[in-house]
Amino acid sequence: MSYYKIHDLENYFKMYKKSVREPRKFWDKIADDNFSWYQKWEKVFDFDFQEAKFRWFIDAKLNITKNCIDRHLARRGDKTAILFEPNNPDEEAQHITYNELYARVAKMANVLREQGVQKGDRVCIYLPMIPELAVAVLACARIGAVHSVVFAGFSASAVAARINDCDSKLVITSDGSYRGDKTIDLKSIVDEALEKAPGVEKVLVVKRTNTNVNMKEGRDIWLQPLLDEAIPNNVAEVMDAEDPLFILYTSGSTGKPKGMVHTTAGYMVYTAYTFKNIFNYEENDVYWCTADIGWITGHSYILYGPLLNGATTVMFEGVPSYPNFSRFWDIIEKHQVNQFYTAPTAIRSLAKESIDFVQKYPLKSLKVIGSVGEPINEEAWHWYNDHVGGKRCPLVDTWWQTETGGIMISPIPFITPTKPTYATLPLPGVQPVLMDELRNEIEGNQVTGSLCIKFPWPSMARTIWGDHQRFKETYFTAFPGKYFTGDGALRDEVGYYRITGRVDDVIIVSGHNLGTAPIEDAINEHPAVAESAIVGFPHDIKGNALYGFVILKETGEGRKQENLAIEINQLISDQVGPIAKLDKIQFVSGLPKTRSGKIMRRILRKIAEGDFSNFGDTSTLLNPECVEEIKNGKL
Ligand code: WTA
Repeated sequence: MSYYKIHDLENYFKMYKKSVREPRKFWDKIADDNFSWYQKWEKVFDFDFQEAKFRWFIDAKLNITKNCIDRHLARRGDKTAILFEPNNPDEEAQHITYNELYARVAKMANVLREQGVQKGDRVCIYLPMIPELAVAVLACARIGAVHSVVFAGFSASAVAARINDCDSKLVITSDGSYRGDKTIDLKSIVDEALEKAPGVEKVLVVKRTNTNVNMKEGRDIWLQPLLDEAIPNNVAEVMDAEDPLFILYTSGSTGKPKGMVHTTAGYMVYTAYTFKNIFNYEENDVYWCTADIGWITGHSYILYGPLLNGATTVMFEGVPSYPNFSRFWDIIEKHQVNQFYTAPTAIRSLAKESIDFVQKYPLKSLKVIGSVGEPINEEAWHWYNDHVGGKRCPLVDTWWQTETGGIMISPIPFITPTKPTYATLPLPGVQPVLMDELRNEIEGNQVTGSLCIKFPWPSMARTIWGDHQRFKETYFTAFPGKYFTGDGALRDEVGYYRITGRVDDVIIVSGHNLGTAPIEDAINEHPAVAESAIVGFPHDIKGNALYGFVILKETGEGRKQENLAIEINQLISDQVGPIAKLDKIQFVSGLPKTRSGKIMRRILRKIAEGDFSNFGDTSTLLNPECVEEIKNGKL
């Protein structure tokens, strides 16, 4: 296979230039050389930024699972595809070979077909990190159903909203899930969700925890007996390059979550290409990404990217703190992991524990370590680089988003010199730009601005499910002719990028993107609450934590504030999920507002951070007197 592999820095710059000058040729060759197609494309891509329409590998036909599985069987049939490490270290790890994965996906695909799932139907998958999750995702892709994986930490209301938004008729879940020393009753969360999602006709239930569950007659079915009876007839549906592969929800700064739609061919080509280059994967390596498949990182870099490259990919069910803070390092030794990819929040939480937890492990198998999800602060970068990477493994700080489908800016190990807190350079094929407030592109180095991408790339999201208008408005109107990322960034003297954080109302808490609006909606449902505003403030481990400012109705003012705070957090936990709970809740009598009625979050953010030095221009405030009160009451 002639690979799309970058060999040295000179080759990187050469490829980069080629990708900008001749993007069609660049992508045509990558797609042609490295995948199996039922039919090749007529045209590499076309696009219209104004209408937010993008197409890649136009008219090509393929099935992504043929590329993830079938293509490897001749050479790698007995190689481990998925290495499952259970929550409990005493439970045996499972090595699922490419041959076994092929058979399991075939059976699952036929179960879905027998349950009436057809090409184009949406299937909601709400499962813990167990092999059935991977199998279910791939089985959907096999038959052309659109998977919508919902992170198994989301609440019943969040699950219901996602099911309803994309109109899933079938849900795949489990009786329960293990997380550290806890067992979570997943099935009952689904039961509650389905009270608000009446369109669901079937629920397939995986047995994982042997929890007693309520099986609703005619709707709920245990999965295993169906799999036992399924015929392993293994047809892979012929998909068009632009057929949707999956929907994945991400938080917006307003209203309901956005169902980002990714399509088949472009996503395949881009995730495979980036995986190969960024992790420097070699044939017998064991690769481990600690994300959950409920997030884009898990989709692109636990499943699709690695499997497209015939890799061995570890799937870990548990958490970094169970049974103790050595768990990650223990797994790296146990399976001789070569590439390790995790999030800054995990690094920070482990770095605050005794250094012995990591130091007793040599971690000599590691070759490359990676970070994703939020800016990695300098201290965490060094801890990770020194104690995990042994100052020997390149640390790839990878910047990308649910919307981008794959990694966009990242060092290439052993090629790009790393620099703490910098994601460094764009991958060939990616054209980032920094924009100023007047919508001009900022040229030159040592500058900061809003990060945009000015040319399409294969794995960009194509739309928001059911709401193309919102897609256009959110990403393509702030800077016409460009994709706006929502992030701010700086470019240093050599052209390296450092992502400074969100410039919109999305707050990243422990690596989870949270929109302020849905949380405020949940708070405002409390009968004693009149209005609320939440902002992020820096937190040692989570990166950011949430600070809520709440105005009570007169009727609520006699109530005990501690009790109200508990009730408010319970509401948030029920409606959005426990990850969105507030660390601090301050009851106030007013919120700073502009004359047009907009809350000035900038001021609240400064107060929450404890920075009272300069609130900037407050002349447009309708009620400047409340600022003093809020300052004095800061928690
Ligand atoms: C942030 C996760 C700094 C950023 C793949 C982005 C990062 C958002 C980095 C997308 C990084 C992700 N450095 N910030 N290396 N990686 N981000 O959709 O704000 O869950 O816009 O995708 O995470 O988060 P999402």
